[in-house]
Amino acid sequence: MIPKETIDKIFEAAHIEEVIGDFLPLKKRGVNMIGLCPFHNEKTPSFTVSPSKGIYKCFGCGESGTAVNFVMKHENMTYPEALKYLAAKYGIEVEEKEMTDEEKVKEKERESLMGVTAFAQAHFADTLLKSDEGKAIGLKYFNERGFNDYIIEKFGLGYAADSWDDLQKAAKAKGYTEDVLIKTGLIVKTEEGKTYDRFRGRVIFPIYNISGRPIGFGGRILDSSKSKAKYVNSPESEIYHKSNVLYGLNLARTPIMKAENCYLVEGYTDVISLHMAGIENVVASSGTSLTTGQIKLLKRFTNKITILYDGDTAGIKASFRGIDMIIEEGLNVKIVLFPEGEDPDSFARSHSAEEVEKFVSEQAKDFILFKSDMLKGEAGNDPAARSEMIKDIVRSIALIPENIDRQLYTREAAVILEIDEEILVNEIAKYRRKKYYKDKKDYSPPEEEPAKKAPQILLKDNTLNLEKEITRVLLNYGNFEFIPKLSGMPLLAGDTEEKVKVSDFIISTLLDDDIVLKESAEISQIFQEFVEAYEQDKVPSQQFFVKYEDEKVNKLAIDLITDPYNLHEWSKIGINVADETTDKVLARLVVASVYAYKQKIVNNRIVELTEQLKEEGQDEEKVFKLQKTIAALTSTRNKILKEMGRVVLPG
Ligand code: CTP
Ligand code: MN
Repeated sequence: MIPKETIDKIFEAAHIEEVIGDFLPLKKRGVNMIGLCPFHNEKTPSFTVSPSKGIYKCFGCGESGTAVNFVMKHENMTYPEALKYLAAKYGIEVEEKEMTDEEKVKEKERESLMGVTAFAQAHFADTLLKSDEGKAIGLKYFNERGFNDYIIEKFGLGYAADSWDDLQKAAKAKGYTEDVLIKTGLIVKTEEGKTYDRFRGRVIFPIYNISGRPIGFGGRILDSSKSKAKYVNSPESEIYHKSNVLYGLNLARTPIMKAENCYLVEGYTDVISLHMAGIENVVASSGTSLTTGQIKLLKRFTNKITILYDGDTAGIKASFRGIDMIIEEGLNVKIVLFPEGEDPDSFARSHSAEEVEKFVSEQAKDFILFKSDMLKGEAGNDPAARSEMIKDIVRSIALIPENIDRQLYTREAAVILEIDEEILVNEIAKYRRKKYYKDKKDYSPPEEEPAKKAPQILLKDNTLNLEKEITRVLLNYGNFEFIPKLSGMPLLAGDTEEKVKVSDFIISTLLDDDIVLKESAEISQIFQEFVEAYEQDKVPSQQFFVKYEDEKVNKLAIDLITDPYNLHEWSKIGINVADETTDKVLARLVVASVYAYKQKIVNNRIVELTEQLKEEGQDEEKVFKLQKTIAALTSTRNKILKEMGRVVLPG
């Protein structure tokens, strides 16, 4: 743990243009510096560095961050590693914070498990390349599969001798204890207390963590004897958590960012053969369906996944559920189906690199459309099967978080399934409403209306974008002063010429009605920081959020700060922005964003109460109360709408 004061010192000392300048040439352009983005392929520079704000942003691929983020991404480093790198560059001494005894023990244990795993990886690689048995059996096998020396080295492949204690002996001779060998699963202890090597007479595929250190192994059998498992794998351990690891990601991270897409395959050999064919943005789930942890890992690098399947349709159907999970995370999923009897590995070996690229890019089909197609073929004309199929598709589409995407898919699915688009739209809305109530456990779902009365579906407004906009305004103009009256909405904003602080206006207007921003954890955290500062009559600075500990908060803050709208300085590189800081425009922006949001909140409350009203058919007193509240809210809403109607929104 590095103490907070030291972290602050490092951030202060690190001049972003110097840090990035060590890795790529930057040219001065106005107050900024520009260069070719190292995270995607481009011919004209759109990678922009702002020395004054201490951040970089690529207007081509969207990558952005601080000097620390840059080092982490560019050099595959963890947060503390990047801090130490910068500390060394600027001669700042890092004394690590005292760890508790418990932390020390844990850390030491992790380090010793990592140590013995690195040793084992080197030992297996040596055995493969230097021992007679390794060369005659392991290397021969790899060569027959077409793996050359370069790729064997790149993946650190190895061979475990056909012996009960080859690794154990070598490790103990180097001073590694039996305890760490057992904890990593490299040796197994029987009930009688005997120990033996887990990997024997198998070729070895080391599994690396994201920064390229080995944490486990897969050992493949050489003959095709059915009596033994094809793969023996390292068990879960303190350093190897299968659900958070993707095979090949250590090598694929930069290629994934450049290609803005990640190929997902099943096995170790698929990854390796694709690398041989020059395709490097590929990872393997190692035979299981993706976990949420793995999806979150990938999401750091891309929001597009293309799943490569061998030509076996049973396997694909089984994986549909898992894919829904990816969609729910907001990722875009495509499917490539290989011809029967082929998998990515065999296909890559029997075709040229260009042929593989061409096949994959031509065959890639959007998941939802792929699924619609496939289910439609299966259901044929059977009405019951068709209805099941529609429900199934609806479930997938309803999971898509983005409104626009959802609409596009609905339209296309309607065409493929040959059903009325409106039916799909209604079903999806119904499904989302049900899910909404299920997610919010304090509500019981309103009874579904009988089918004939169904058309009018009350939908809640999505408030995420407005919350984002308010957060953006807070981050960029929180400190500015303005005259609310200039917004042109005096009924709501006040009729005096008095100046107020943007942040004070926003926070107090929302808190007055007990409204807090909460659509995402990051937004909520930023908002809470503003509230806390407001209570002490302060406004948190941009730098406070740019350096924020929580990586997600920090990313959102940087994205909002570098949003093309608020960067006058970016305009010097050819991006036009409306000037939001003129008095009138700022007043409209602040007041309108707050009231547009409030109007939606009120509207959502009306929707909720109207739903309740439908249920309260009997109890007259309750019905009367509800009606009164709804009337009051409706009048508030109309007042806001009327005032909003008077102003033209900026932008
Ligand atoms: N797997 C496993 N245990 C098994 C079989 C498979 O852990 N008994 C995992 C491995 O991660 C493997 C992946 O599932 O890489 C895919 O399995 P498969 O296609 O059978 O293996 P490949 O690695 O593709 O090997 P090969 O190309 O030699 O068939
Ligand atoms: Mn395979």
